[in-house]
Amino acid sequence: MNHKFLTFALSAGLLWILGCGDDEQEEASQPAPPDFYWGTATAAHQVEGFNTQNDWYLWEMIPGKIDNGDLSGAAVDHYHRFDEDFALAQQMGHNAYRFSIEWSRIEPSRDSYDPMAIAHYHEVLASLKQHGLTPFVTLHHFTNPLWILNPLRPDTDLDGWRSQDTVEEFVEFCADMAVEFGRQVDFWITINEPMVVVNGTYFQGGYPSDLEPFHLEEGRLAAFNLFKAHAAAFHRIHALDTWDADGDGRPALVSSAKHMRIMKPKNENSPWDVEGARQVDYVFNQVFFDVLHDGMVDADLDGDYDSPDTDPPEGFYPELAHTLDYIAVNYYSRDVVTGLPFIPYVKGIPEDNPDPAVEHNEMGWEIYPQGFYEVLKRLGEYGLPVIVTENGIPDIDDDQRPLFLVEHLDAMFNAMEEGVDVKGYLHWSLMDNFEWAEGFWPRFGLLAVDYDTLARTKRPSADLYSEIIQAGRVTEEVRRRVGAAAR
Ligand code: GAL
Repeated sequence: MNHKFLTFALSAGLLWILGCGDDEQEEASQPAPPDFYWGTATAAHQVEGFNTQNDWYLWEMIPGKIDNGDLSGAAVDHYHRFDEDFALAQQMGHNAYRFSIEWSRIEPSRDSYDPMAIAHYHEVLASLKQHGLTPFVTLHHFTNPLWILNPLRPDTDLDGWRSQDTVEEFVEFCADMAVEFGRQVDFWITINEPMVVVNGTYFQGGYPSDLEPFHLEEGRLAAFNLFKAHAAAFHRIHALDTWDADGDGRPALVSSAKHMRIMKPKNENSPWDVEGARQVDYVFNQVFFDVLHDGMVDADLDGDYDSPDTDPPEGFYPELAHTLDYIAVNYYSRDVVTGLPFIPYVKGIPEDNPDPAVEHNEMGWEIYPQGFYEVLKRLGEYGLPVIVTENGIPDIDDDQRPLFLVEHLDAMFNAMEEGVDVKGYLHWSLMDNFEWAEGFWPRFGLLAVDYDTLARTKRPSADLYSEIIQAGRVTEEVRRRVGAAAR
């Protein structure tokens, strides 16, 4: 007899005996375990204010680079208000917080560290501990010290991620941070979204650069340098951070946050678009794992490892393999891809889904929770623990966020019930902040920020999130309230 059928028949019978109404069905779905990480994520440059020594700070001053001519300026003054912000997170029932240490504050000029900046992040970590928030620490979240990349004076920098020197400098910085903060930190994220950095700096543009967009060769090189930097930092952090901050027997867990996007052919009947979507998915989503999980380098991104004379040489690199202790995933949306076979490497251009029939957020991105489930299932194949290190929506009036939150958490719970080992969910973001090239207008915060007074106020979704955290699950009542489909 088919064993699956036997199990199914037995459990169906058992449910029938128990009399299975709505509530019992909920009991049947597993809540998040009590040690699940629930919280939010931020990045230094977007919230701290006056990060004057990095590439973005100068970039913002070039007319036309940032919407409405916004400058990050004081941002939301998290640099001074972190303690109040953590108190709010604690009151909302969170137990984790992701933030980034700003490299340009710690090392404003090459090989010279600022003790005041180091002291500041010790205070941040002490405050997190006091508020019961487990830290997830990012060491590179888009910004570079000016001596690494200076978009206005490229003659004075190290050439950004195109150069080996940058790789070495970053790894040294990570090693020093591991020693400095290892007693307080177990979860490290070396680099946030390497492929987004590459895309913004060298492919589609929009990020600080001394080059015009579509410098694909430079971008390809930068991508492998970012991977190398991550892997070398992974090994250094493991060697140096031997303090087990949370007492679970594992002193350091190191990853790099991977932005995953669903890539859909613009026209499903066009072989060009189908091939473009496949290749963009390969380059943007897959190569990261091929390199950092499998150790395999496909330098010319053609899908095999046997091309001669590439830089770097193709093939297996033991030092790159298995350098993700957990998968840190950021998920937002689905793109549509137009195939353009003559474009080197990527063979297509992804863009926002223009289909008016799908729901879009205020930045024009498709709202696609099914994609979150698909991404988690795909990543679950690696058999590693997964932490959702970003997921959120720009929504000033909180019209779309409640349903967004519920549908994405349902997608996550569905993946978990099917065996994906998700250990935490960190919503983007705790409060409104400086959204890079878009400036201040997109509002991602559970807390709304009044940019005149910098006062923080809860949006309704903040309470909804607290309610879900407290229950450890999304209840049918919550689903009904926000208009989500029953599960
Ligand atoms: C991510 C990025 C964050 C934030 C978010 C919302 O790609 O890591 O810094 O800006 O997007 O757009």
